[in-house]
Amino acid sequence: MIHQKVKLSNDIYWIGVNDRRTHLFENQWPLPNGVAYNSYLIVDKFNCIVDTVEMSKLDTYIEKIYEIIGEGGKVDYLVVNHMEPDHSGAIKAVLKEWPEVKIVGNLKTFPMLEGFYGITTNYYKIEDGDTIDLGNHKLKFVLTPMVHWPETMMTYEESTGILFSADAFGSFGTLDGGIFDDEINLSFYEEEMRRYYSNIVGKYGLQVQKAMDKASALDIKMIASTHGPIWRSHIATVIDYYNKWSRYETEEGVVIVFGSMYGNTEIMAEIVARTLSEEGIKNIRIFDSSKTHNSYIINALWKYRGVMLGSAAYNGSIFTPMSDLIRELEHIMPKNHLLGYFGSMSWGGGAVRALDKFAEAIKWEVVAPAVEVKHSANNDDSARLVAMAKAMANRLKEYRNS
Ligand code: FEO
Repeated sequence: MIHQKVKLSNDIYWIGVNDRRTHLFENQWPLPNGVAYNSYLIVDKFNCIVDTVEMSKLDTYIEKIYEIIGEGGKVDYLVVNHMEPDHSGAIKAVLKEWPEVKIVGNLKTFPMLEGFYGITTNYYKIEDGDTIDLGNHKLKFVLTPMVHWPETMMTYEESTGILFSADAFGSFGTLDGGIFDDEINLSFYEEEMRRYYSNIVGKYGLQVQKAMDKASALDIKMIASTHGPIWRSHIATVIDYYNKWSRYETEEGVVIVFGSMYGNTEIMAEIVARTLSEEGIKNIRIFDSSKTHNSYIINALWKYRGVMLGSAAYNGSIFTPMSDLIRELEHIMPKNHLLGYFGSMSWGGGAVRALDKFAEAIKWEVVAPAVEVKHSANNDDSARLVAMAKAMANRLKEYRNS
């Protein structure tokens, strides 16, 4: 035995792996703390795997399975809750190892299985609410489309109350020894969980709400996601997070993002921030869009109600890193924010014009007219920025008192 057995119950095991090598999740989201790919094995009359892992860890993965079921042991079912390759990457290896395995998925799973891996056999199709009896365990399937892909579903094990939730309730960050929520300090995972949610699943708030409604009918004793800790002691807390995040509920605070080449727009951000503080706003975060990856900015924005964007002009339009940010926001379309924006024209402007269009598209409440300055802010411009920041603070305080 090389690897310790990690038990969720008497005969349900965590067989996941940690990835500390990949720099970017989906080749775009920074992973300074790595990521875990969780997979689970139910040992019963019919052995069953729930989701697999990314393909870079195949040897360890298969080794872990054999250590539990023994040499010559077999896997009868493989439940595919989600086809994204960070979880489906080992399906081919499982099929090769256990050619009789039944691959459990829904109508939308199998075209992906064929498209990504050329697998056209061993399909075991289920529909919403169907069950599979493994012997002592009974699996019930809950279809949860678009949390995160169209084929996504969850699997509920009835005898233990474990919900295998796919990406839902997942988090960036490896499992560094602690696997269960009560074995670790959760403060780290709260940030990484929200960064994961807001950037990966955040676009699908409505679908997450529908999934939460469906899940609320189940007696959940443990949540076993495909990323991050397994939740058994703080289930209400994570369900509360998901309810809040999927409804776009935010706290009092302001995220200020600036795009600045030589510091003039940054000074405008500083004026705005100081005014907000003088007005009693305590949660103020300033980000330099050139330096901070959008995923961290979007994470902060999922927490705080106020958003203030400032940008230099660049070639008659908006500064490129700010352009990337607003394009990303228009793609995700978070709701329920207050917006203020400002910019420097340089010689011909363009940044504020782009932010005008953004404001129209994103449909957030704009707290005050935009402030556009020529070259750099003078005394009058500074007064206009102060007025805009005061308007933001006042609207936030109205929420506080409502
Ligand atoms: Fe962790 Fe949508 O895959």
